[in-house]
Amino acid sequence: MDTLTVSAKMATAKDFLPINGTDHIELYVGNAKQAAHFYKTAFGFQSLAYAGPETGVKEIASYVLQQGKIRLVLTTPLESEHPISQHIFKHGDGVKVLALWVDDAYKAFQETTSRGAKAYMQPKTMKDEFGEVKISGIYTYGETAHLFVERKNYKGPFLPGYKEWKSNYNPSETGLLHVDHCVGNVGWNRMNETVKWYEDVMGFVNILSFDDKQINTEYSALMSKVMSNGNGYVKFPINEPAEGKKKSQIEEYLQFYEGEGVQHIAVATKDIIKTVRELKSRGVEFLNTPNTYYEDLQNRVGKIDEDVASLHELGILVDRDDEGYLLQIFTKPIEDRPTLFFEIIQRKGAQSFGAGNFKALFESIEREQALRGNL
Ligand code: FE2
Repeated sequence: MDTLTVSAKMATAKDFLPINGTDHIELYVGNAKQAAHFYKTAFGFQSLAYAGPETGVKEIASYVLQQGKIRLVLTTPLESEHPISQHIFKHGDGVKVLALWVDDAYKAFQETTSRGAKAYMQPKTMKDEFGEVKISGIYTYGETAHLFVERKNYKGPFLPGYKEWKSNYNPSETGLLHVDHCVGNVGWNRMNETVKWYEDVMGFVNILSFDDKQINTEYSALMSKVMSNGNGYVKFPINEPAEGKKKSQIEEYLQFYEGEGVQHIAVATKDIIKTVRELKSRGVEFLNTPNTYYEDLQNRVGKIDEDVASLHELGILVDRDDEGYLLQIFTKPIEDRPTLFFEIIQRKGAQSFGAGNFKALFESIEREQALRGNL
């Protein structure tokens, strides 16, 4: 039996690829202007930078939004023949790039490709009047890529080529602070292969594992392994479907995304009750939690600082591990295909991912899946 805590396991990761955190997340979307409005209005992201025809970029438009340390890039193609058009045609709106902030983008490329990574972007140096950014990239699961971004000699708003985006419409923030983890869904029998890829190519360590005995409902099941870099700033859980009586939520994702990809982005807050209340008032839709979940909550998780009535009112979930507890809630998919969604998480010591909530959560997801006729 494995008795190391999550924190102790992280310390065993290899250090050939030092990562300072998530640099940005880029989504390919059908209409970046409208998507940017949604992320500002509903989630409280702030306008940061823009690239497009007005800044000399002819084929695409990209809007960069920021809240806390989270940067989202929303990119849309302006012509049908552009490769991004093919990506959106196949996958719908979704995450293309999970970009990582590194001190040496050339070395990150060399270290990972020499260990078997497939190149997505050859290392290059981009310059403008604010300095220079070095950038490179590799493919991970599906068509998803990791960029390595080195920005220590750059003072501009985002990257060379982007101009500051000043807007007259600036809804307030909702308390989102940083990316906690990003989850990938992979196909049948692909989880262990993907885990080994993160170990061998990125030097990550597997800090937690859940099998289909632990994550199942009456109908469907999945398996999950959480990969982390050494300092724990970057965590990528990997999910694979498992056999159940009916179609697993991971299979539904794979069917509608038409391949492997990012399932959810978890963003941290210091006050989940305040954040979720605000997000709901702005129209963000969350999965419903059954009333029965709260009947036995305090026996299951022990003493917590939060008012249980408020958690119940908002549908926030709680879970405890040997390092503390966490509070979390999941949005419904944020586009029409049942693919990408967000998680809001507040950690109070816990380093895990809410395994104790999986059953309640998946039963809720299955109710939504059944409404779509996909269960
Ligand atoms: Fe999560």
